[in-house]
This record gives sequence, C-alpha cells and structure tokens, in this order.
Amino acid sequence: MNQKTNSHEHLQFLLDEHEEIFSHMQELKDWWAQLDEKGLPKFGEMGTRVKGFRDLLAKHFDDEEQEGYFKPVFDEAPGFCIMVPDFKKTHAEILFRIDDFITRLKETEPPFQNWNKALKEFEEILADLHEHEDQEVKMVQEAFNQSASKKAEI
Ligand SMILES: [Fe+2]
Ligand SMILES: [Fe+2]
Repeated sequence: MNQKTNSHEHLQFLLDEHEEIFSHMQELKDWWAQLDEKGLPKFGEMGTRVKGFRDLLAKHFDDEEQEGYFKPVFDEAPGFCIMVPDFKKTHAEILFRIDDFITRLKETEPPFQNWNKALKEFEEILADLHEHEDQEVKMVQEAFNQSASKKAEI
C-alpha cells in the first residue's frame, strides 16, 4: 500500500515538472510573438531566455536519469529499465540541439534569415521534446499499471 502511494507520488512529481516545463515553453513563445508583433527581434536576449529554459530542462532530465522519478517503476517493473537508455539518448540529443541553437542566437550576426525562421526552428525542437515527454509519461504509466495488476493477481 505504502509503495503504491509512493509510486503515485513519483509519477505526480514527473507530471508536475512536465507542466512547469511546458508553461516555461509557453512563456518563451508568448514573449517571442510579442516581439514579432512589434517587429523588434532580439536574438541575444532570446539566447539568454532559452538558456534559462535549457537549464531547467537539463535538471529535469538529470532527475529522471538518476532514477529519481523512475525509481519505484524500476523496483516494481524491472522490464522498464530497458527503455531508459533510449530516454537518455533523446535527452542528450535535445540538449545538444538547444545548445547549438543558443550558440547561434548569441552570435554577433545571428545566422537566421529572420525572427520567424528562428522561431520555427525552436518550435521544431519543442515539438520533439513534447513528443518525447508524452511518450515517457505513457511508458511510466504503463509500467505502473502493469505492476499494479501483477500485485492484484497475487
Ligand atoms: Fe520528462
Ligand atoms: Fe525525459
């Protein structure tokens, strides 16, 4: 009973952090759109803002990989461990793309055709991130459900 409550707590942490990340994403997009309306691109400042987002994300990935959120799932559904290297690979790829994007935003002459092209590129990264996180939660939930039904059988 206790362990089950724990698992749900961990899942809730994961979901809460995802929510925080998604709301941060939305703030970035809103700020970006405002500057677009005013016709005032600020690539360097965007780089700084994206860096803040990147650090939040890196911490989240780290927590996941340290088995912080996944720990109860590992204990209850050992088959789940197989999926973790895939998560790690995707995390590293996403951070790499964001870092590369920040580097270019910070260049003296940012190599983007215009503000909107840069936004498009960032949105592509965010869409991939969103897909990854959705998939991750689905897998964690499935693993929880499997272990819960296994317990019910006993
Ligand atoms: Fe996540
Ligand atoms: Fe993740």
